Amino acid sequence: MKIGIDKIGFYAPHMYVDMVKLAEARGDDPLKYTKGIGQDEMAVTPITQDTVTMAANAAHQLIDDKDREQIDYVIFGTETGIDHSKSAAIYVSRLLGLKKQVRAVETKQACYGTTAAIQLAKGYIALNPESKVLILASDIARYGLATPGEVTQGSGAVAILLSQDPRIMTLEKETTFQTEDSMDFWRPIYSDVAFVDGKYSNDRYIDFFADLWGEYKEKTKRDFADFAALCFHLPYTRMGEKALKPHLENVAESVANQLTERYKTSTTYNRLVGNIYTGSLYLSLLSLIENDDNLAAGDRIGMFSYGSGSVGEFFTGILEEGYQDHLNTANHKALLANRKEVTIKEYEAEFLKELPTDGSTVEYSGDNDPADIYLAGITEHMRQYKNK
Ligand code: CAA
Repeated sequence: MKIGIDKIGFYAPHMYVDMVKLAEARGDDPLKYTKGIGQDEMAVTPITQDTVTMAANAAHQLIDDKDREQIDYVIFGTETGIDHSKSAAIYVSRLLGLKKQVRAVETKQACYGTTAAIQLAKGYIALNPESKVLILASDIARYGLATPGEVTQGSGAVAILLSQDPRIMTLEKETTFQTEDSMDFWRPIYSDVAFVDGKYSNDRYIDFFADLWGEYKEKTKRDFADFAALCFHLPYTRMGEKALKPHLENVAESVANQLTERYKTSTTYNRLVGNIYTGSLYLSLLSLIENDDNLAAGDRIGMFSYGSGSVGEFFTGILEEGYQDHLNTANHKALLANRKEVTIKEYEAEFLKELPTDGSTVEYSGDNDPADIYLAGITEHMRQYKNK
């Protein structure tokens, strides 16, 4: 049975900062941000968007009434949970008008959470071929103003519909994965910014890719020539390149050039949005398949998922015949093109806004946020969501 991605979409907030201006404000050389880190723009999250609303905005244009009948599992991958107990998947299920006969849960393991959700869903569909699983990946990456990690912030969500006989990509069976306890990046529950050992986290990422790619090669006897492209978890767009480059040194030039070229294409949207943690790998996949006109049905794409802490996986998918007809490329490009640039002062002001934690009531108007679904306020510790 073929199982894989039947639909895929994304959402990013309507505001961004220009990385050249951010570099200037921080007294850094802009080339460090645009070339060294590889980011041009960074999403700025308004107080009216959180992980729930971003995921709902990514999913609501994706699914139709037939999907609503068939979706019986919603898995929400996030490391920016809004509640220790209640799963964000429940709010989104209601906002999307899903039926009651749904299992709605959250998965967590840093940026690997969505890959875990996909692997769980594959097994579920194998047992329940008529079911569709809605997978949501939504995060807000926060390191703090004027910190080394600031340039790698971002926010956004990806929604994926997984089913049998998928129209975009079939996921193959062979994967390699591993877990190793490392304190490279973590988000203690009392902190609203991440703790990170930047250089060590880069090294962990690079080592995980080397281990998992090596094991995959050994296990499958496949090599880079068997791949049309490789997509990576992208905390910033130079990261995947750092992991891949050493492995391309002794590879045929044509193969190395093609993988390098397509790697660049796979960073298209990520360069404009920043790190969206659990969704970053899937935003990279979307960048590739919506921006490369030379990919074809039958092409194999490798995907490297890395979640600090750390869990990683290398897995693959095959593009389906006519996959291009099932993408929302024009909408995604319009979403990014229609965003509004904000000044560094405006971004800082947004960054410092907080929801009340004392039970008091606050209301937000949706007038300044073009998204359909937004956070309209909070009452007695309960977030109030609205769909315009
Ligand atoms: N012109 C061009 N390039 C320049 C430059 C200039 N003027 N100045 C510096 N650079 C280059 C540097 O040479 C470097 O490139 P190389 O790595 O190829 O040498 C690059 O810009 C970055 O410079 P630094 O290493 O000096 O940057 P930094 O010390 O300020 O921090 C960082 C970079 C460690 C990524 C930091 O932003 C950070 O901690 N980010 C958060 C952690 C992170 O994203 N880790 C990634 C792996 S973990 C993961 O993947 C999970 C996750 O999502 C968090």
